[in-house]
Amino acid sequence: MELTEVMRGAGSVRALTTDPVPRSVIYDVLDAARFAPSGGNRQGWRVIVVTDTELRRRLGELYRTSWYTLHAPLFGPARANQPDEYADRVHEVPVHLLVLTSEASITTGVTALDRSRVVGGASIYPFVHNIVLGLRERGLGTTLTTVLVPMEEQVKQLLGIPDGYPIAAHLAVGWPARPLPTRLRRNPVETFATENSFGGPALGA
Ligand SMILES: Cc1cc2nc3c(=O)[nH]c(=O)nc-3n(C[C@H](O)[C@H](O)[C@H](O)COP(=O)(O)O)c2cc1C
Repeated sequence: MELTEVMRGAGSVRALTTDPVPRSVIYDVLDAARFAPSGGNRQGWRVIVVTDTELRRRLGELYRTSWYTLHAPLFGPARANQPDEYADRVHEVPVHLLVLTSEASITTGVTALDRSRVVGGASIYPFVHNIVLGLRERGLGTTLTTVLVPMEEQVKQLLGIPDGYPIAAHLAVGWPARPLPTRLRRNPVETFATENSFGGPALGA
């Protein structure tokens, strides 16, 4: 696949089959993703590849607790009381990637950077998105979620994660149950890029 095609098609995929995903595919995706940039080239990422059925079951429980108590209510009472198919079946997805970042690697010593909500943890997400792109290129589906972050203490206990490695993302990875998306809903360039100043003319083609 062309890089542009992959970038334009790497949308979230939540309907996944239980068919196994070869370990070698995950390895190859990570082997390419590791070329992501990071501040100071500190490469603070750690990935826990969870395939064990019992661990996935436990992760699924934690995911559902977080989803139904903290996330679904954000979408209003109707959604809060609605079953969520992804949350209910996430444990069935054959591979779960827990991406962590070493806290030391995202601390710069420059207060303005460390306090910034944008820059603070930014060094991990180019790596995470490289994983998303690599999976898409291979026809696999996933969704980057942060739903497990509020359950971090329980996840740490379950997977033996030491202090100093916060969760950056959880990606359940599997083969798509339906055709992968090809046309994502995204705003056109003209709506967010301007020339020479914030209020400048919209960048045209
Ligand atoms: C940093 C980040 C956190 C996200 N967290 C969640 C999440 O917790 N749950 C979820 O379902 N999707 C999550 N997403 C996926 C977004 O919802 C998705 O990219 C966006 O809605 C666009 O949807 P589409 O790719 O299906 O077009 C996250 C994406 C990013 C980049």
